[in-house]
Amino acid sequence: IDTLLTQGVDGKRVFVRADLNVPLDGTAITDDGRIRAVLPTIKALAEAGAKVVVASHLGRPKGAPDPAFSLRPAAARLSELLGAPVAFAGDTIGSEAHDAVGGLRAGQVAVLENLRFNAGETAKDDAERAEFAARLAALADVYVGDGFGAVHRKHASVFDLPKLLPAYAGHLIATELGVLRKLTDDVRRPYAVVLGGAKVSDKLGVIDHLLEKADRILIGGGMAYTFLKAKGHEVGRSLLQEDQVPAVLEYLARAEKRGVEFVLPVDVLVSGEFPDLKTKAPAHPATVDADAIPADQEGLDIGPKTCELYAAKLADAATVFWNGPMGVFEHPDYAKGTQAVAQALIDSPAFTVVGGGDSAAAVRTLGFDENAFGHISTGGGASLEYLEGKTLPGLAALED
Ligand code: 3PG
Repeated sequence: IDTLLTQGVDGKRVFVRADLNVPLDGTAITDDGRIRAVLPTIKALAEAGAKVVVASHLGRPKGAPDPAFSLRPAAARLSELLGAPVAFAGDTIGSEAHDAVGGLRAGQVAVLENLRFNAGETAKDDAERAEFAARLAALADVYVGDGFGAVHRKHASVFDLPKLLPAYAGHLIATELGVLRKLTDDVRRPYAVVLGGAKVSDKLGVIDHLLEKADRILIGGGMAYTFLKAKGHEVGRSLLQEDQVPAVLEYLARAEKRGVEFVLPVDVLVSGEFPDLKTKAPAHPATVDADAIPADQEGLDIGPKTCELYAAKLADAATVFWNGPMGVFEHPDYAKGTQAVAQALIDSPAFTVVGGGDSAAAVRTLGFDENAFGHISTGGGASLEYLEGKTLPGLAALED
């Protein structure tokens, strides 16, 4: 983007592909981190006199308009953060979009409605995507890719559109890549990784890659129970991906060969009932050893001994990457594990990176100061796929 700003954008229509996919409670934004993250790019362009056209997806609507996934609340928040009016177009390639963009003066900003209200955005068919991209291209003179959270998606606005216009990377993408490179090239050791979240299957690729890079891998969240099962423990009614047990066994064996330490929970909080996340009524969990989960109970957070163990394993690390909560942190009775890991990252002198929409939202909603971490990535899947060493379509298109 610095190159683009040097060339000058005064009066030019600049299409900014952002990731404004923020968590919503009805129409209330519960974490605006992703909107704040793209502000430097939008501000720089507006200050340089561009007509800024911001576009994004939100959620996973089915290729047709759906009011539950409107970007209107995000546009309103963007306007508050910019301290300037932001025009909102109720469509993406229709008359509202053309009117909103046509009405922009130099330095003004418009937000288009959710790109995924058009089937062409996410279409598998190349021609269908290209057609939608061509209609988007008609709205702008220049493209700036800054939706880091979506660069792993081969979608029209991410992959096809930058090929149709002069294309540049925004500040957020540059910052995210700068940080992620520190986790892949010249990593300072010991390098510890904390992985959580619900499913092992989402993390197989990254574990595979990390076995070559990390010194220590700490496992929590729902995925921990598949690891405990692979170790021969019964996990009761806990989340379990039985079909992943062979893959986990293979990873554990490879880790041992390579001298990578896998650290699993030694105790967990269990209950016979999933907690009520709306009322947050007290859940009264019991603490049990990880090899003694009762058959009629499910594990919902790591236990106190595990919190201590994980804090100790992170205390002497030089680099830490954390992705995925340790338990059902949305309920206060099951937030302690996630809190303990967040606190351990803050207390550690290591270079710490929090990756993933859920973990990033978790640290903010649990009240931690985001500046206490080395970096909080706006990308969940995107940062994991980057660490897997995959080619990310949105970055490849910009490099082209
Ligand atoms: C995310 O939340 O990780 C990004 O916004 C991408 O969203 P998606 O997984 O629905 O493509």
